[in-house]
Amino acid sequence: MYTLNLDIADFMQNYWQKKPLLIKAGFKDFIDPISPDEIAGLAMEEEVTSRMVSLEDGKWEAKCGPFTEFDRLEEPGAAILVQAINHWHDPSAELANAFNFIPSWRFDDLMVSYSSDTGGVGPHIDRYCVFIIQGQGKRHWRVGAQDMDPQEFAANGALKHCEAFDAVIDTVLEPGDILYIPPYAPHEGYAVGEAINYSVGFRAQDQKELLSDFGDYLLQQDKEFIRYSDPKLQPRAEHGSIESGEVQGLTDIMTSLMADKSVMHDFLGRHYSESAHELDLLVPEGGYIADFAIVVDEIGMESYLRKVNGLKTLYFPEMPTSCFIDGERYDFDASIAASVQTLCNTTEQTAKELEVLMEDKVFGQLLIDWVNLGYWHFE
Ligand code: SIN
Ligand code: CO
Repeated sequence: MYTLNLDIADFMQNYWQKKPLLIKAGFKDFIDPISPDEIAGLAMEEEVTSRMVSLEDGKWEAKCGPFTEFDRLEEPGAAILVQAINHWHDPSAELANAFNFIPSWRFDDLMVSYSSDTGGVGPHIDRYCVFIIQGQGKRHWRVGAQDMDPQEFAANGALKHCEAFDAVIDTVLEPGDILYIPPYAPHEGYAVGEAINYSVGFRAQDQKELLSDFGDYLLQQDKEFIRYSDPKLQPRAEHGSIESGEVQGLTDIMTSLMADKSVMHDFLGRHYSESAHELDLLVPEGGYIADFAIVVDEIGMESYLRKVNGLKTLYFPEMPTSCFIDGERYDFDASIAASVQTLCNTTEQTAKELEVLMEDKVFGQLLIDWVNLGYWHFE
């Protein structure tokens, strides 16, 4: 288990989304959840997103995985980055879980980077905010303020960099140190010897992204929407004009759709529960499970039911008879809302806790369906 050595209330009030922070020894006696060999192993997999970034004679290079060889990492100035390792690797998921004080719909993934001496991705700006945890080795980081706004440019087709910036934090991270970097704060980090870093990233979409995703959602809806109509239209000499009342009418039909809570809940629930990265769903090996008691009998009372790493299970408190799992909506009776919310808010249930929850047959059947879909599994 990874326990964060941080005054969370103070952090949220004074730093979250506001300014960078160095959290010295944020994890005491930090032990890397993953080894360089395991990182390389994941970077060889088709379904895992990875890239390698290196600096060759003053020129930046970036390649996308999967990779079959890693020779470049034996020379200085290279880094390999693997996304969503929390989906594939239990100890890495545990590290990500240390940040569960931030709601899951905001969480994106845990990325790992392994760098050779001086390796890094260069000076850049992220739109998302990130906690960078130092694993083995050391890395020299510089972080600027959020409002610096240095010019961005393409260092290479796949790599965006920013101009030089003044640092408000300039430090060499040691194992267990954490750097919080809010969105838009420019940063750059270069390994001092070989180093591993973990980035816990949180997503926040802009208007363009949200409306485009909302548009995609609407396209999938098989129903009639309110259409613009103008029964009071008067003859007009200005054939080319769109009058302000008409602009208002068009705007109103769009905003009334967004003001419809049932539409928004359905869109946001499906949208934010859908994993942005591939999930390692664990469909029961022995075929369909019909009764948990039999499974628990087989594997013992010490077993527990565990949510698949990275799975998003969301609900809206004002809509207690629905929940959203990996892009799908489930509706149920109000009598089991509290049990479903318990599942949504936690990562595992002991066999004993499960026994209590399963006393309700309606809840039991729903959970059996989810286990058979591979969303939860016994360990
Ligand atoms: C890295 O770990 O190399 C990059 C992390 C970041 O800059 O966001
Ligand atoms: Co970054």
